[in-house]
Amino acid sequence: MCGIFGYVGHRKDAACIVLEGLKSLEYRGYDSWGIAVLPESGKSDGKIIVRKKTGKIGDATADELPAGSIAFGHTRWATHGGVTQANAHPHLDCTGKLALIHNGILENYHEIKPGLKKGGHRFISDTDTETFVHMVEEYSRNRLVSKAMQRAFNEVTGLNAFIILAARDKRLIAARNGSPLVVGYGDNENFIASDASALLPYTRQVHFLEENQMAIVSGAGIMIFDAKTGDLVEPHKQVLTWSIDQTVKGKYPYFMLKEIHEQPGVLAAIAADYTSQAEKLAATIDRSYGTYMVGCGTAAYACMAGSYLFSKIAKRHVNWAIGSEFTYQAEFLTPKSLVIALSQSGETMDTLEAVRKAKEKGASIYAVVNALGSSLYRYADHKMLIGAGPEKGVASTKAFTGKLAHLIMVAYAMEGSVKNGQKVVTAAAKSSQKVLTESSVRQLKELALKFRNVRHMYVIGRGLSYPASLETALKIKEISYIHAEGLAAGELKHGPLALVEKGTACIAFLPNDETYGANLAGAMEMKARGGYIIGASYKPHEIFDTYVHIPDAGEGTIIPNVIFGQMLAYELAVIRGLDPDKPRNLAKSVTVK
Ligand code: AGP
Repeated sequence: MCGIFGYVGHRKDAACIVLEGLKSLEYRGYDSWGIAVLPESGKSDGKIIVRKKTGKIGDATADELPAGSIAFGHTRWATHGGVTQANAHPHLDCTGKLALIHNGILENYHEIKPGLKKGGHRFISDTDTETFVHMVEEYSRNRLVSKAMQRAFNEVTGLNAFIILAARDKRLIAARNGSPLVVGYGDNENFIASDASALLPYTRQVHFLEENQMAIVSGAGIMIFDAKTGDLVEPHKQVLTWSIDQTVKGKYPYFMLKEIHEQPGVLAAIAADYTSQAEKLAATIDRSYGTYMVGCGTAAYACMAGSYLFSKIAKRHVNWAIGSEFTYQAEFLTPKSLVIALSQSGETMDTLEAVRKAKEKGASIYAVVNALGSSLYRYADHKMLIGAGPEKGVASTKAFTGKLAHLIMVAYAMEGSVKNGQKVVTAAAKSSQKVLTESSVRQLKELALKFRNVRHMYVIGRGLSYPASLETALKIKEISYIHAEGLAAGELKHGPLALVEKGTACIAFLPNDETYGANLAGAMEMKARGGYIIGASYKPHEIFDTYVHIPDAGEGTIIPNVIFGQMLAYELAVIRGLDPDKPRNLAKSVTVK
């Protein structure tokens, strides 16, 4: 997924406004970035000025860009074409009077590009994207740019969001199918972005572009069209309710640290405010014949944890699958099936593809999603907002524990006592608060110092602690780059134990539940081979080399366990001199297959 921000209006510092917008969106992709601005009339003979660089934006300024009242910009997560300045967006046409930014993959560009080259178009990048701007240039020789864009958009295949800056019309023209775009309504100024949170400093009035919709954004207004028919469409204006301080780091050095510390508050709010939503989802599960949860990465581990919670609390079997695998095991779905899709961004292509396959089978879709107006949010038959607030660290934290809190409440609602679910989530919030105290964090910093140079770490758990182990390992992997593996403790003796040697870092989750004894056996097996045992438990044990106190919260103990894992991963990343908000090779939401 890439960061996209555009401005058209009365102000002359459009390039500065765009740069600030890109900085707020950089978590969505940070391989390279670029800005295009149309200088004030009379300068640059109507040509668009583009500046683009590889790497993160950092403290860059727009000083070298000219004044102008229309500009847009892009932060790139490379999909097609290496990370080079030439491949960074925006891309210009041959005349320099059309510029393009793009998110997605233009699947049939290789069928189109040769004809354009034969027609004399000059290409300077090896991206798929550049083909599109030359298509629009070609078609706009005898058409309005918006009509040329519509024609090009309907000829290309793949899931994309395109925005053209047209110098001739002084407008931004956008079209999307599959990658998110949202337009913002200002006062004599209008905006477009790939994420609504970037618009908050300027406007709260937004319209989320639907699939196959186009938008023409000028300083005077915004027009929405159906990209297939060209008909005008009435926008569905919504008001954003997030506060601006939810979208900035504030006193924290990184978004991830801020979002980790927001979790007790998010959990308490979910316990207090979401009982009716829990009961609604529980009733929908009850009415369905077969329910399946799908998600990717951290969201997949939330699905897995949900499967244990529904069994343990509601005595119900609710299956789960990784989003990218679900399409290969969904032939049994029927119109009576329910698919619950869990996603922070609501834009993860693998999850959306799984949901599309389920819809083809007639299944009902229930979205548990954090991003209002996202593709999944709009595509689902039923929806529940996680309510964690904007999450900008690439490593998902509060949205993940928010999903777990909802699943606990739904499981108890299925068992007929949602109030017990509230109690468990409230206990998890309190236990999480204790895991985040200064003394606990100090202990984690010491652990990070001890293990900052290890090459491997192992995390074991059973029952609900097994998805906790997988999630902890993922956090460590994705932000500290240390290879970490989550294991079902019972599986150790079936192979992985061969990996344990003197000093191997082993985290063992040992909550106060039916798994304690068997899990302790796993920790002992590791200890006997020289492993260094970090016991995350409600009570100490002599085999622990380091004991991390995790106050008991019943079935909710998975939440403080995972928050311990998040903080350890964060401290490991920081002590290794890494940026926990923007880990290499990753992006906040993966909108490609
Ligand atoms: C989580 O820390 C990772 N960034 C990643 O696994 C993420 O959970 C996954 O890409 C799914 O994202 P989503 O929740 O936005 O669908």
